[in-house]
Amino acid sequence: MYRIIESDLLAANIYRMVVEAPRIAKHCMPGQFIIVIKDEFSERIPLTICDYDRTKGTITIVFQPAGASTTMLTELKSGDHFYSIVGPLGNPSELCSMSKEELSSLKILFIAGGVGTAPVFPQVKWLHENGITADAIIGAKTKDLVILEKEFNEVCNLYVTTDDGSYGRNGMVTKCLEDLVAEGHDYNYAIAIGPMIMMKFTCLLTKKLGIHTIVSMNPIMVDGTGMCGACRLNVGNEVKFACVDGPEFDGHLVDFDQAMKRAQLYKTEEGRAKLALEEGKTHHGGCGNCGGDK
Ligand code: NAD
Ligand code: FES
Repeated sequence: MYRIIESDLLAANIYRMVVEAPRIAKHCMPGQFIIVIKDEFSERIPLTICDYDRTKGTITIVFQPAGASTTMLTELKSGDHFYSIVGPLGNPSELCSMSKEELSSLKILFIAGGVGTAPVFPQVKWLHENGITADAIIGAKTKDLVILEKEFNEVCNLYVTTDDGSYGRNGMVTKCLEDLVAEGHDYNYAIAIGPMIMMKFTCLLTKKLGIHTIVSMNPIMVDGTGMCGACRLNVGNEVKFACVDGPEFDGHLVDFDQAMKRAQLYKTEEGRAKLALEEGKTHHGGCGNCGGDK
């Protein structure tokens, strides 16, 4: 059982929980995710780790209820417990395996959209702790949906933009990126995390601008273990699974249109049957022998 120490609303329908999970807090790295299970009858929900405190033994998660399972998570309050939490899972951000020299050679821009702002935070913080203060864009539909602004301001050079211009700059994150480049910023490495459509259009732009771009394919995960096949995607000419091979990938190689179409199909039984017919057994083949990922 994992005790919830704090539970609050960051913005309308965006929940933050700080949870006691000492083993995960000790080992997790930016970019990794966990699976939370509310009670013994609940589904497994993959969520990116948004912060961790190795001394206190806590991790922070931020989520926006989308389906029944995430909505049920909102019933949990401070003092309640998660039945189970599995993790850390997935690969850490590639930044974490770079040398100080490699990191210093990069001109890094983080691009965070909506709830995707939360999983960006540990990467920005980790870089800052390692002596690099990167630039970051936070994009939200409107002022009330901007989250973690204070936390970001402490660890990066922050640009906030809202679609309706009610706060910060005016326009979507792609407009802000274009403006920053026009103002003379010269980036060569970007990490874009947010809704799929945002990552798609950000990648189209960064490709044009010649900025290497990493994205997180967390939104298409379902069971997070490599077995359900939901997170199958094409990266370059290869079939990958976000939960096992990612969640982060080279955004210029991701086939976003196929991933979004597939995620829609996966939602219904009929869609899953269609996918099974087209792709065969689509699970990752975690056993290493069955070839299910081929
Ligand atoms: P949103 O729709 O409010 O969009 C957030 C920002 O993304 C916008 O303010 C805008 O700046 C940018 N954006 C949106 N559409 C764009 C477009 N067509 N072109 C350029 N920029 C665009 O986001 P939300 O409602 O907070 O997002 C919820 C989604 O985020 C969910 O679908 C969830 O799956 C996803 N999410 C992704 C991750 C991840 O790891 N990639 C993590 C958490 C949440
Ligand atoms: Fe099920 Fe990746 S989320 S295989």
